[in-house]
Amino acid sequence: MESGSIKQIDRTSVHKICSGQVVLTLATAVKELVENSIDAGATTIDVKLKEYGSEFIEVIDNGKGVKKSDFQNLTLKHHTSKIEDFSDLPFVSTFGFRGEALSSLCALSNLEITTCHCDASIGSVLTFDHDGNLIKCSPTARQAGTTVTLKNLFYTLPVRHKEFLRNIRREYFKMLQLLTAYCLISTNKRISCTNITDKGKKNVVLSTNNCQNFKDNIICIFGAKQMSSLMEIVQHLPSEDILEEYFLPVSDVDKSIFKLEGYISNSTHGEGRSTTDRQFFFINGRPCDLPKVAKLINEVYHSFNRHQYPFVFVNISLIEGSADVNVTPDKRQIFIPNEKLLLAIVKTSLLQMYGIQPSQMKVSSLNFSFEKKKTGISSSELSPTETNCRKTSDSFLKRRFDFNSNYHEEDEDLSQPFKTLRRDEEETCDEGQAQYSGSSNQQKPETSCVPDTSNVSHLTNTTNDKELSLRKLQNSNSQPIGNVNFTM
Ligand SMILES: Nc1ncnc2c1ncn2[C@@H]1O[C@H](COP(=O)(O)OP(=O)(O)O)[C@@H](O)[C@H]1O
Ligand SMILES: [Mg+2]
Repeated sequence: MESGSIKQIDRTSVHKICSGQVVLTLATAVKELVENSIDAGATTIDVKLKEYGSEFIEVIDNGKGVKKSDFQNLTLKHHTSKIEDFSDLPFVSTFGFRGEALSSLCALSNLEITTCHCDASIGSVLTFDHDGNLIKCSPTARQAGTTVTLKNLFYTLPVRHKEFLRNIRREYFKMLQLLTAYCLISTNKRISCTNITDKGKKNVVLSTNNCQNFKDNIICIFGAKQMSSLMEIVQHLPSEDILEEYFLPVSDVDKSIFKLEGYISNSTHGEGRSTTDRQFFFINGRPCDLPKVAKLINEVYHSFNRHQYPFVFVNISLIEGSADVNVTPDKRQIFIPNEKLLLAIVKTSLLQMYGIQPSQMKVSSLNFSFEKKKTGISSSELSPTETNCRKTSDSFLKRRFDFNSNYHEEDEDLSQPFKTLRRDEEETCDEGQAQYSGSSNQQKPETSCVPDTSNVSHLTNTTNDKELSLRKLQNSNSQPIGNVNFTM
Protein backbone atom coordinates (compact mmCIF):
# COMPACT_ATOMS: atom_id res chain seq x y z
CA MET A 1 0.00 0.00 0.00
CA GLU A 2 1.23 3.48 -0.85
CA SER A 3 2.71 5.09 2.23
CA GLY A 4 1.13 8.32 3.43
CA SER A 5 -2.27 7.74 1.90
CA ILE A 6 -5.11 7.58 4.37
CA LYS A 7 -8.11 5.57 3.34
CA GLN A 8 -11.23 4.38 5.06
CA ILE A 9 -11.17 0.69 5.99
CA ASP A 10 -13.98 -1.16 4.27
CA ARG A 11 -17.08 -1.91 6.39
CA THR A 12 -16.58 -5.68 6.46
CA SER A 13 -13.02 -5.33 7.76
CA VAL A 14 -14.09 -2.78 10.41
CA HIS A 15 -16.84 -5.12 11.48
CA LYS A 16 -14.42 -8.03 11.81
CA ILE A 17 -11.84 -5.97 13.69
CA CYS A 18 -14.36 -4.64 16.20
CA SER A 19 -16.23 -7.92 16.63
CA GLY A 20 -13.08 -9.68 17.73
CA GLN A 21 -12.91 -7.20 20.61
CA VAL A 22 -16.47 -7.73 21.76
CA VAL A 23 -16.31 -11.51 21.85
CA LEU A 24 -12.86 -12.60 22.94
CA THR A 25 -13.50 -16.03 24.37
CA LEU A 26 -15.94 -18.90 24.59
CA ALA A 27 -16.97 -17.51 27.97
CA THR A 28 -17.94 -14.15 26.45
CA ALA A 29 -19.86 -15.80 23.63
CA VAL A 30 -21.93 -17.92 26.03
CA LYS A 31 -22.31 -15.03 28.48
CA GLU A 32 -23.73 -12.75 25.77
CA LEU A 33 -26.28 -15.33 24.70
CA VAL A 34 -27.34 -16.16 28.26
CA GLU A 35 -27.65 -12.45 29.06
CA ASN A 36 -29.92 -12.05 26.04
CA SER A 37 -32.10 -14.92 27.23
CA ILE A 38 -32.38 -13.43 30.72
CA ASP A 39 -33.14 -10.01 29.22
CA ALA A 40 -35.90 -11.65 27.16
CA GLY A 41 -37.55 -12.81 30.38
CA ALA A 42 -36.70 -16.51 30.00
CA THR A 43 -37.23 -18.79 32.97
CA THR A 44 -35.55 -21.78 31.33
CA ILE A 45 -32.19 -21.45 29.61
CA ASP A 46 -30.29 -24.44 28.24
CA VAL A 47 -26.73 -24.04 27.06
CA LYS A 48 -25.61 -26.90 24.82
CA LEU A 49 -22.06 -27.36 23.66
CA LYS A 50 -20.54 -29.87 21.32
CA GLU A 51 -16.97 -30.81 22.16
CA TYR A 52 -16.67 -28.10 24.82
CA GLY A 53 -17.95 -25.45 22.40
CA SER A 54 -15.38 -26.01 19.68
CA GLU A 55 -17.98 -27.39 17.25
CA PHE A 56 -21.15 -25.66 18.27
CA ILE A 57 -22.75 -23.59 20.99
CA GLU A 58 -26.47 -23.39 21.35
CA VAL A 59 -28.53 -21.38 23.83
CA ILE A 60 -32.22 -22.26 24.00
CA ASP A 61 -34.67 -20.14 25.97
CA ASN A 62 -38.37 -19.74 26.64
CA GLY A 63 -38.26 -15.95 26.63
CA LYS A 64 -40.56 -13.65 24.73
CA GLY A 65 -38.97 -14.32 21.34
CA VAL A 66 -38.29 -11.89 18.51
CA LYS A 67 -40.99 -10.08 16.55
CA LYS A 68 -41.06 -10.61 12.80
CA SER A 69 -40.61 -6.86 12.27
CA ASP A 70 -37.28 -7.07 14.14
CA PHE A 71 -35.76 -9.94 12.11
CA GLN A 72 -33.88 -7.62 9.72
CA ASN A 73 -32.32 -5.57 12.53
CA LEU A 74 -31.67 -8.42 14.94
CA THR A 75 -28.00 -8.90 14.16
CA LEU A 76 -27.00 -5.47 12.90
CA LYS A 77 -24.25 -3.58 14.72
CA HIS A 78 -25.49 -1.25 17.46
CA HIS A 79 -29.10 -2.28 16.97
CA THR A 80 -30.83 -2.92 20.28
CA SER A 81 -34.27 -2.94 21.81
CA LYS A 82 -32.86 -2.05 25.24
CA ILE A 83 -31.96 1.63 25.04
CA GLU A 84 -32.89 4.42 22.69
CA ASP A 85 -30.18 6.94 23.40
CA PHE A 86 -27.25 7.68 25.69
CA SER A 87 -29.42 9.21 28.42
CA ASP A 88 -31.00 5.79 29.06
CA LEU A 89 -27.66 4.24 29.93
CA PRO A 90 -27.41 5.00 33.67
CA PHE A 91 -30.83 3.48 34.25
CA VAL A 92 -30.50 0.39 32.10
CA SER A 93 -31.78 -2.65 33.95
CA THR A 94 -30.99 -5.22 31.28
CA PHE A 95 -27.64 -6.97 30.89
CA GLY A 96 -27.29 -5.86 27.28
CA PHE A 97 -27.60 -2.37 25.83
CA ARG A 98 -24.79 -1.96 23.28
CA GLY A 99 -26.43 -3.95 20.49
CA GLU A 100 -23.24 -5.59 19.35
CA ALA A 101 -23.19 -9.17 20.65
CA LEU A 102 -25.23 -10.84 17.94
CA SER A 103 -23.63 -8.79 15.18
CA SER A 104 -20.16 -9.70 16.51
CA LEU A 105 -21.08 -13.37 16.74
CA CYS A 106 -22.26 -13.22 13.11
CA ALA A 107 -18.83 -11.93 12.13
CA LEU A 108 -17.04 -14.65 14.11
CA SER A 109 -19.08 -17.77 13.40
CA ASN A 110 -21.97 -19.24 11.44
CA LEU A 111 -25.02 -18.00 13.28
CA GLU A 112 -28.57 -19.26 13.05
CA ILE A 113 -31.54 -18.17 15.12
CA THR A 114 -34.83 -19.97 15.58
CA THR A 115 -37.40 -17.83 17.29
CA CYS A 116 -41.07 -17.56 17.96
CA HIS A 117 -42.48 -14.39 19.49
CA CYS A 118 -44.99 -14.93 22.27
CA ASP A 119 -47.73 -13.35 20.11
CA ALA A 120 -46.87 -15.33 16.95
CA SER A 121 -48.46 -18.60 15.93
CA ILE A 122 -45.44 -20.02 14.15
CA GLY A 123 -41.69 -19.83 14.58
CA SER A 124 -38.99 -18.87 12.08
CA VAL A 125 -35.51 -20.11 11.30
CA LEU A 126 -33.23 -17.19 10.44
CA THR A 127 -29.84 -17.44 8.76
CA PHE A 128 -27.42 -14.50 8.65
CA ASP A 129 -24.26 -13.70 6.78
CA HIS A 130 -21.06 -12.49 8.47
CA ASP A 131 -22.16 -8.85 8.12
CA GLY A 132 -25.32 -9.59 10.07
CA ASN A 133 -27.65 -9.45 7.07
CA LEU A 134 -30.64 -11.79 7.12
CA ILE A 135 -30.16 -14.14 4.17
CA LYS A 136 -32.81 -16.76 4.78
CA CYS A 137 -36.05 -17.01 6.74
CA SER A 138 -38.17 -20.15 6.82
CA PRO A 139 -41.12 -21.16 8.98
CA THR A 140 -40.81 -23.79 11.68
CA ALA A 141 -42.76 -25.11 14.63
CA ARG A 142 -41.53 -23.69 17.92
CA GLN A 143 -42.98 -22.61 21.23
CA ALA A 144 -42.35 -19.02 22.34
CA GLY A 145 -38.67 -18.40 22.83
CA THR A 146 -35.39 -18.26 20.98
CA THR A 147 -32.59 -20.62 20.08
CA VAL A 148 -29.28 -19.15 18.96
CA THR A 149 -26.83 -21.58 17.38
CA LEU A 150 -23.20 -20.71 16.69
CA LYS A 151 -21.09 -23.05 14.63
CA ASN A 152 -17.31 -22.89 14.44
CA LEU A 153 -16.77 -19.92 16.72
CA PHE A 154 -13.77 -17.77 15.68
CA TYR A 155 -13.22 -19.60 12.40
CA THR A 156 -13.20 -16.25 10.59
CA LEU A 157 -10.14 -15.20 12.62
CA PRO A 158 -7.61 -17.95 11.79
CA VAL A 159 -5.05 -17.15 14.50
CA ARG A 160 -7.65 -16.87 17.23
CA HIS A 161 -9.40 -20.00 16.00
CA LYS A 162 -6.22 -22.06 16.21
CA GLU A 163 -5.52 -20.86 19.74
CA PHE A 164 -9.15 -21.41 20.69
CA LEU A 165 -8.99 -25.05 19.64
CA ARG A 166 -5.61 -25.53 21.27
CA ASN A 167 -6.84 -24.15 24.61
CA ILE A 168 -10.37 -25.45 24.38
CA ARG A 169 -10.40 -27.07 27.81
CA ARG A 170 -9.20 -23.91 29.49
CA GLU A 171 -11.76 -21.88 27.55
CA TYR A 172 -14.44 -24.35 28.61
CA PHE A 173 -13.40 -24.11 32.26
CA LYS A 174 -13.53 -20.33 32.19
CA MET A 175 -16.90 -20.41 30.49
CA LEU A 176 -18.28 -22.68 33.24
CA GLN A 177 -16.86 -20.36 35.86
CA LEU A 178 -18.62 -17.38 34.30
CA LEU A 179 -21.85 -19.25 33.69
CA THR A 180 -21.83 -20.28 37.35
CA ALA A 181 -21.97 -16.59 38.30
CA TYR A 182 -25.12 -16.16 36.19
CA CYS A 183 -26.59 -19.33 37.69
CA LEU A 184 -25.94 -18.11 41.23
CA ILE A 185 -27.48 -14.67 40.75
CA SER A 186 -30.50 -15.85 38.72
CA THR A 187 -33.39 -16.76 40.97
CA ASN A 188 -36.59 -18.37 39.71
CA LYS A 189 -34.85 -19.73 36.64
CA ARG A 190 -33.64 -23.09 35.46
CA ILE A 191 -30.28 -22.73 33.77
CA SER A 192 -28.41 -25.77 32.57
CA CYS A 193 -25.27 -26.48 30.63
CA THR A 194 -24.72 -29.70 28.72
CA ASN A 195 -21.65 -30.80 26.87
CA ILE A 196 -21.93 -33.38 24.10
CA THR A 197 -18.79 -35.26 23.23
CA ASP A 198 -17.79 -36.36 19.76
CA LYS A 199 -19.05 -39.84 20.61
CA GLY A 200 -22.49 -38.42 21.36
CA LYS A 201 -22.26 -38.70 25.13
CA LYS A 202 -24.23 -35.97 26.92
CA ASN A 203 -23.17 -34.61 30.27
CA VAL A 204 -25.05 -32.06 32.32
CA VAL A 205 -22.20 -30.10 33.84
CA LEU A 206 -24.09 -27.32 35.56
CA SER A 207 -27.70 -26.75 36.49
CA THR A 208 -29.99 -24.76 38.71
CA ASN A 209 -33.49 -25.69 39.62
CA ASN A 210 -35.80 -22.69 39.80
CA CYS A 211 -34.50 -21.71 43.24
CA GLN A 212 -36.11 -18.69 44.83
CA ASN A 213 -33.05 -17.38 46.60
CA PHE A 214 -29.28 -17.20 46.33
CA LYS A 215 -28.75 -19.63 49.16
CA ASP A 216 -30.64 -22.40 47.36
CA ASN A 217 -28.74 -21.62 44.16
CA ILE A 218 -25.48 -22.10 46.07
CA ILE A 219 -26.72 -25.41 47.45
CA CYS A 220 -27.93 -26.48 44.03
CA ILE A 221 -24.59 -25.77 42.39
CA PHE A 222 -22.03 -26.48 45.09
CA GLY A 223 -23.91 -28.68 47.55
CA ALA A 224 -25.18 -28.39 51.11
CA LYS A 225 -21.73 -28.96 52.53
CA GLN A 226 -20.39 -25.82 50.87
CA MET A 227 -23.36 -23.85 52.16
CA SER A 228 -22.81 -25.06 55.71
CA SER A 229 -19.32 -23.54 55.69
CA LEU A 230 -20.59 -20.07 54.76
CA MET A 231 -21.68 -17.06 56.75
CA GLU A 232 -24.22 -14.53 55.61
CA ILE A 233 -22.57 -11.18 54.96
CA VAL A 234 -23.64 -8.61 57.53
CA GLN A 235 -22.86 -5.05 56.57
CA HIS A 236 -21.30 -2.70 59.11
CA LEU A 237 -20.60 0.99 58.91
CA PRO A 238 -16.91 1.72 58.46
CA SER A 239 -14.98 2.35 61.63
CA GLU A 240 -13.09 5.62 62.09
CA ASP A 241 -9.79 3.73 61.96
CA ILE A 242 -10.63 2.23 58.63
CA LEU A 243 -12.00 5.45 57.20
CA GLU A 244 -8.67 6.99 58.15
CA GLU A 245 -6.80 4.14 56.51
CA TYR A 246 -8.57 4.97 53.24
CA PHE A 247 -8.12 8.74 53.75
CA LEU A 248 -11.85 9.21 53.97
CA PRO A 249 -13.20 12.10 56.03
CA VAL A 250 -15.58 10.87 58.70
CA SER A 251 -17.99 13.75 58.23
CA ASP A 252 -19.06 13.82 54.62
CA VAL A 253 -19.13 10.13 53.86
CA ASP A 254 -22.49 8.87 52.68
CA LYS A 255 -22.46 5.41 54.15
CA SER A 256 -25.78 4.36 52.71
CA ILE A 257 -24.80 4.31 49.06
CA PHE A 258 -23.64 0.68 49.12
CA LYS A 259 -25.63 -2.31 50.24
CA LEU A 260 -23.85 -5.64 50.55
CA GLU A 261 -25.53 -9.02 50.51
CA GLY A 262 -24.26 -12.54 50.10
CA TYR A 263 -22.26 -15.30 51.68
CA ILE A 264 -18.63 -15.90 52.53
CA SER A 265 -16.64 -18.78 54.05
CA ASN A 266 -16.28 -18.77 57.78
CA SER A 267 -12.69 -18.52 58.92
CA THR A 268 -12.34 -21.96 60.51
CA HIS A 269 -9.32 -23.66 59.05
CA GLY A 270 -10.47 -26.29 56.58
CA GLU A 271 -13.72 -24.51 55.75
CA GLY A 272 -12.16 -22.28 53.12
CA ARG A 273 -10.72 -23.33 49.80
CA SER A 274 -7.23 -23.90 48.53
CA THR A 275 -7.73 -21.55 45.58
CA THR A 276 -9.81 -18.51 44.66
CA ASP A 277 -11.91 -20.69 42.36
CA ARG A 278 -15.24 -19.89 43.99
CA GLN A 279 -15.36 -16.14 44.20
CA PHE A 280 -18.26 -14.36 42.55
CA PHE A 281 -18.83 -10.62 42.54
CA PHE A 282 -21.86 -8.68 41.38
CA ILE A 283 -22.85 -5.04 41.11
CA ASN A 284 -26.61 -4.62 41.11
CA GLY A 285 -26.92 -8.29 40.15
CA ARG A 286 -24.49 -7.98 37.25
CA PRO A 287 -21.58 -10.46 37.40
CA CYS A 288 -18.34 -8.49 37.12
CA ASP A 289 -14.67 -8.34 38.01
CA LEU A 290 -13.94 -6.36 41.15
CA PRO A 291 -10.20 -6.89 41.60
CA LYS A 292 -9.78 -4.44 44.47
CA VAL A 293 -12.69 -5.86 46.43
CA ALA A 294 -11.47 -9.41 45.74
CA LYS A 295 -7.96 -8.58 46.88
CA LEU A 296 -9.20 -6.96 50.05
CA ILE A 297 -11.53 -9.85 50.91
CA ASN A 298 -8.73 -12.36 50.42
CA GLU A 299 -6.35 -10.30 52.53
CA VAL A 300 -8.79 -9.98 55.42
CA TYR A 301 -9.63 -13.65 55.18
CA HIS A 302 -5.96 -14.54 55.26
CA SER A 303 -5.56 -12.73 58.54
CA PHE A 304 -8.03 -15.18 60.07
CA ASN A 305 -7.31 -18.29 58.00
CA ARG A 306 -3.80 -17.92 56.70
CA HIS A 307 -3.63 -20.85 54.30
CA GLN A 308 -6.98 -20.74 52.60
CA TYR A 309 -9.18 -18.57 50.40
CA PRO A 310 -12.84 -17.91 51.04
CA PHE A 311 -15.83 -18.89 48.96
CA VAL A 312 -17.33 -15.51 48.10
CA PHE A 313 -20.72 -14.64 46.73
CA VAL A 314 -21.31 -10.93 47.13
CA ASN A 315 -23.78 -8.63 45.47
CA ILE A 316 -23.21 -4.92 45.95
CA SER A 317 -26.24 -2.76 45.32
CA LEU A 318 -25.69 0.85 44.37
CA ILE A 319 -28.17 3.62 43.94
CA GLU A 320 -29.65 3.43 40.44
CA GLY A 321 -27.58 5.35 37.96
CA SER A 322 -24.46 5.67 40.10
CA ALA A 323 -22.32 2.91 38.55
CA ASP A 324 -20.92 3.09 35.04
CA VAL A 325 -21.18 -0.29 33.35
CA ASN A 326 -20.08 0.97 29.97
CA VAL A 327 -16.34 0.69 30.61
CA THR A 328 -15.42 -2.30 28.44
CA PRO A 329 -17.38 -3.98 25.63
CA ASP A 330 -17.81 -7.14 27.70
CA LYS A 331 -19.20 -5.05 30.59
CA ARG A 332 -17.12 -7.00 33.11
CA GLN A 333 -15.50 -3.86 34.46
CA ILE A 334 -17.65 -1.39 36.28
CA PHE A 335 -16.72 2.09 37.34
CA ILE A 336 -17.80 2.56 40.93
CA PRO A 337 -17.86 6.07 42.34
CA ASN A 338 -16.43 6.32 45.83
CA GLU A 339 -14.80 2.91 45.60
CA LYS A 340 -12.65 3.63 48.65
CA LEU A 341 -15.74 3.89 50.79
CA LEU A 342 -16.91 0.55 49.45
CA LEU A 343 -13.56 -0.98 50.42
CA ALA A 344 -13.82 0.56 53.88
CA ILE A 345 -17.30 -0.91 54.34
CA VAL A 346 -16.19 -4.34 53.10
CA LYS A 347 -13.18 -4.34 55.41
CA THR A 348 -15.08 -3.27 58.50
CA SER A 349 -17.87 -5.73 57.81
CA LEU A 350 -15.54 -8.69 57.41
CA LEU A 351 -13.47 -7.81 60.47
CA GLN A 352 -16.64 -7.56 62.50
CA MET A 353 -18.06 -10.79 61.10
CA TYR A 354 -14.91 -12.82 61.67
CA GLY A 355 -14.32 -11.13 65.00
CA ILE A 356 -17.54 -12.52 66.41
CA GLN A 357 -16.99 -16.03 65.15
CA PRO A 358 -16.41 -18.63 67.87
CA SER A 359 -12.79 -19.50 68.60
CA GLN A 360 -11.06 -21.57 65.95
CA MET A 361 -8.67 -23.04 68.45
CA LYS A 362 -10.88 -25.79 69.83
CA VAL A 363 -9.21 -29.15 69.36
CA SER A 364 -12.60 -30.84 69.22
CA SER A 365 -13.54 -28.82 66.17
CA LEU A 366 -10.22 -29.69 64.57
CA ASN A 367 -10.85 -33.37 65.09
CA PHE A 368 -14.32 -32.97 63.70
CA SER A 369 -13.03 -31.35 60.57
CA PHE A 370 -10.44 -34.05 59.98
CA GLU A 371 -13.02 -36.72 60.74
CA LYS A 372 -15.27 -35.30 58.06
CA LYS A 373 -12.39 -35.34 55.67
CA LYS A 374 -11.71 -39.00 56.27
CA THR A 375 -15.27 -40.16 55.93
CA GLY A 376 -15.86 -38.17 52.76
CA ILE A 377 -19.12 -36.76 51.54
CA SER A 378 -22.39 -38.64 51.63
CA SER A 379 -24.67 -38.61 48.64
CA SER A 380 -27.31 -36.74 50.63
CA GLU A 381 -24.89 -33.82 50.86
CA LEU A 382 -24.54 -33.58 47.12
CA SER A 383 -26.42 -31.03 45.09
CA PRO A 384 -28.74 -32.28 42.35
CA THR A 385 -26.11 -31.37 39.77
CA GLU A 386 -23.50 -33.29 41.68
CA THR A 387 -25.70 -36.35 42.18
CA ASN A 388 -26.70 -36.32 38.56
CA CYS A 389 -23.13 -35.97 37.40
CA ARG A 390 -22.00 -38.71 39.73
CA LYS A 391 -24.67 -41.12 38.63
CA THR A 392 -24.42 -40.57 34.94
CA SER A 393 -20.92 -39.58 34.22
CA ASP A 394 -18.29 -40.77 36.61
CA SER A 395 -15.80 -41.13 33.83
CA PHE A 396 -16.62 -37.69 32.57
CA LEU A 397 -16.09 -36.27 36.04
CA LYS A 398 -12.72 -37.92 36.04
CA ARG A 399 -11.95 -36.26 32.74
CA ARG A 400 -13.12 -32.94 34.09
CA PHE A 401 -10.86 -33.29 37.05
CA ASP A 402 -8.05 -34.37 34.80
CA PHE A 403 -8.38 -31.39 32.57
CA ASN A 404 -8.72 -29.16 35.58
CA SER A 405 -5.33 -30.22 36.76
CA ASN A 406 -4.08 -29.22 33.33
CA TYR A 407 -5.87 -25.96 33.71
CA HIS A 408 -4.13 -25.21 36.97
CA GLU A 409 -0.78 -26.11 35.54
CA GLU A 410 -1.10 -23.87 32.53
CA ASP A 411 -3.36 -21.11 33.64
CA GLU A 412 -2.26 -17.68 34.62
CA ASP A 413 -5.57 -16.07 35.34
CA LEU A 414 -4.82 -12.40 35.57
CA SER A 415 -8.34 -11.64 36.67
CA GLN A 416 -7.61 -13.38 39.95
CA PRO A 417 -5.58 -11.26 42.33
CA PHE A 418 -4.08 -14.28 44.05
CA LYS A 419 -2.12 -17.02 42.45
CA THR A 420 -3.63 -20.48 42.41
CA LEU A 421 -2.05 -22.59 45.09
CA ARG A 422 -0.38 -25.92 44.58
CA ARG A 423 -2.73 -28.75 43.75
CA ASP A 424 -1.41 -30.87 46.56
CA GLU A 425 -2.48 -28.28 49.11
CA GLU A 426 -5.11 -29.39 51.56
CA GLU A 427 -8.70 -28.91 50.52
CA THR A 428 -11.45 -30.04 52.80
CA CYS A 429 -14.39 -28.20 51.36
CA ASP A 430 -16.65 -30.07 48.93
CA GLU A 431 -14.46 -33.01 48.38
CA GLY A 432 -17.40 -34.86 46.89
CA GLN A 433 -17.77 -32.95 43.69
CA ALA A 434 -16.78 -29.39 43.20
CA GLN A 435 -17.71 -28.23 39.76
CA TYR A 436 -14.14 -27.69 38.79
CA SER A 437 -12.13 -28.20 41.90
CA GLY A 438 -10.40 -31.30 40.70
CA SER A 439 -9.80 -32.72 44.13
CA SER A 440 -11.88 -35.83 44.59
CA ASN A 441 -10.41 -38.11 41.97
CA GLN A 442 -6.89 -37.33 42.83
CA GLN A 443 -4.89 -39.39 45.23
CA LYS A 444 -4.23 -37.49 48.38
CA PRO A 445 -1.85 -38.38 51.15
CA GLU A 446 -3.58 -39.75 54.24
CA THR A 447 -4.31 -36.98 56.70
CA SER A 448 -3.84 -37.74 60.35
CA CYS A 449 -6.83 -37.27 62.64
CA VAL A 450 -4.63 -35.66 65.24
CA PRO A 451 -3.36 -32.28 64.20
CA ASP A 452 0.40 -32.16 64.10
CA THR A 453 2.56 -29.41 65.51
CA SER A 454 2.60 -27.43 62.28
CA ASN A 455 -1.17 -27.28 62.32
CA VAL A 456 -1.17 -26.06 65.89
CA SER A 457 1.45 -23.43 65.22
CA HIS A 458 -0.44 -22.33 62.16
CA LEU A 459 -3.59 -21.98 64.18
CA THR A 460 -1.78 -20.11 66.89
CA ASN A 461 -0.68 -17.69 64.23
CA THR A 462 -4.21 -17.48 62.98
CA THR A 463 -5.38 -16.48 66.42
CA ASN A 464 -2.62 -13.91 66.72
CA ASP A 465 -3.65 -12.48 63.39
CA LYS A 466 -7.20 -12.48 64.55
CA GLU A 467 -6.32 -10.69 67.76
CA LEU A 468 -4.37 -8.13 65.79
CA SER A 469 -7.28 -7.51 63.46
CA LEU A 470 -9.65 -7.25 66.36
CA ARG A 471 -7.38 -4.86 68.23
CA LYS A 472 -7.60 -2.58 65.22
CA LEU A 473 -11.33 -2.48 65.70
CA GLN A 474 -11.26 -1.86 69.42
CA ASN A 475 -11.56 1.91 69.21
CA SER A 476 -13.86 1.84 66.28
CA ASN A 477 -17.38 3.11 66.45
CA SER A 478 -18.62 0.70 63.82
CA GLN A 479 -22.19 -0.40 64.21
CA PRO A 480 -24.06 -3.15 62.47
CA ILE A 481 -26.78 -1.92 60.19
CA GLY A 482 -28.47 -5.27 60.21
CA ASN A 483 -28.78 -8.04 57.70
CA VAL A 484 -29.32 -6.98 54.18
CA ASN A 485 -32.80 -7.89 53.12
CA PHE A 486 -33.17 -10.19 50.23
CA THR A 487 -35.71 -12.77 49.33
CA MET A 488 -35.16 -16.12 50.94
N1 LIG B 1 -32.73 -14.66 23.22
C1 LIG B 1 -33.35 -13.57 22.76
N2 LIG B 1 -34.68 -13.43 22.88
C2 LIG B 1 -35.32 -12.32 22.43
N3 LIG B 1 -34.71 -11.29 21.83
C3 LIG B 1 -33.37 -11.36 21.67
C4 LIG B 1 -32.62 -12.49 22.13
N4 LIG B 1 -31.32 -12.29 21.84
C5 LIG B 1 -31.27 -11.08 21.25
N5 LIG B 1 -32.49 -10.52 21.15
C6 LIG B 1 -32.80 -9.19 20.56
O1 LIG B 1 -31.72 -8.83 19.74
C7 LIG B 1 -31.21 -7.55 20.13
C8 LIG B 1 -29.72 -7.51 19.89
O2 LIG B 1 -29.04 -8.37 20.81
P1 LIG B 1 -27.55 -8.08 21.17
O3 LIG B 1 -26.77 -8.04 19.92
O4 LIG B 1 -27.12 -9.05 22.19
O5 LIG B 1 -27.58 -6.61 21.77
P2 LIG B 1 -28.15 -6.09 23.16
O6 LIG B 1 -28.39 -7.25 24.05
O7 LIG B 1 -27.08 -5.21 23.66
O8 LIG B 1 -29.40 -5.34 22.81
C9 LIG B 1 -31.63 -7.38 21.56
O9 LIG B 1 -31.74 -6.01 21.91
C10 LIG B 1 -32.95 -8.11 21.61
O10 LIG B 1 -34.01 -7.28 21.23
MG1 LIG C 1 -27.08 -8.79 24.32
